[in-house]
Amino acid sequence: MRKPFVAGNWKENTDSRSSVELAKAVVAGSAGVAREKVTVAVIPPFVYLQAVVRAVSASGIAVGAQDVYFEPKGAFTGEISPGMLKDVGCTYVLCGHSERRHVIGETDALVGKKVTAAIGGGLLPILCVGELLEERDAGRTEQVVTRQLEAGLAGLNGEKMQAVTIAYEPVWAIGTGRTATPQQAQEVHAFIRGLLAEKYDKSVAEEIRLLYGGSVKGDNAADLMREEDVDGLLVGGASLKADEFVRIIQAAV
Ligand code: PGA
Repeated sequence: MRKPFVAGNWKENTDSRSSVELAKAVVAGSAGVAREKVTVAVIPPFVYLQAVVRAVSASGIAVGAQDVYFEPKGAFTGEISPGMLKDVGCTYVLCGHSERRHVIGETDALVGKKVTAAIGGGLLPILCVGELLEERDAGRTEQVVTRQLEAGLAGLNGEKMQAVTIAYEPVWAIGTGRTATPQQAQEVHAFIRGLLAEKYDKSVAEEIRLLYGGSVKGDNAADLMREEDVDGLLVGGASLKADEFVRIIQAAV
């Protein structure tokens, strides 16, 4: 059985005070939810990681980073290594979030290097994939997701795959209020699991957690989670409100 996983990506939001307040409110609000039943992670901006790690300590809530660089150290101004993230208490890291791909311009190959480096540095990468609206309309969703997965997982054997979570986030559903229907999410998730079974084997495919992301809210979380291959949710906007995020966590159990 795959344990449900709910992660809140705060993106470029909060400040030193509100990040800690939000983290503490999530801890308090979700205190009654057994941690054995659901993995919960919050993913604040880099500069608030340490404060948020302190705020959630002993709660069983994990902390993740929104990005990472693949080089362990050196002359790479502005970049943050897996070792640095581990050092400040991060467990997870997003790799290839659609905003990094489509706003910042990260390539599939760069995302793949980040995933490998994250695992090498002892982090658990959440590899994000998903198609643009024009790609979906052109019937190219599976092709795009396949390309992103091939490059994102390049060089990982079955054993290393145990560290990986995959998030399917159709770009047209992110921050738009236009959630994929549970059926649309399930269709792509089942496709991804099939691809992993081909690329690795059935047990790797059965064990890996596949999250859906894109306009997830308290109101639609339970319907999405009801789908067989939706193992969790990657939440953006709705993770900035503790009550709403806690509702989503409760819907995932
Ligand atoms: P959203 O963002 O929930 O605000 O659509 C999801 C994400 O980008 O991870």
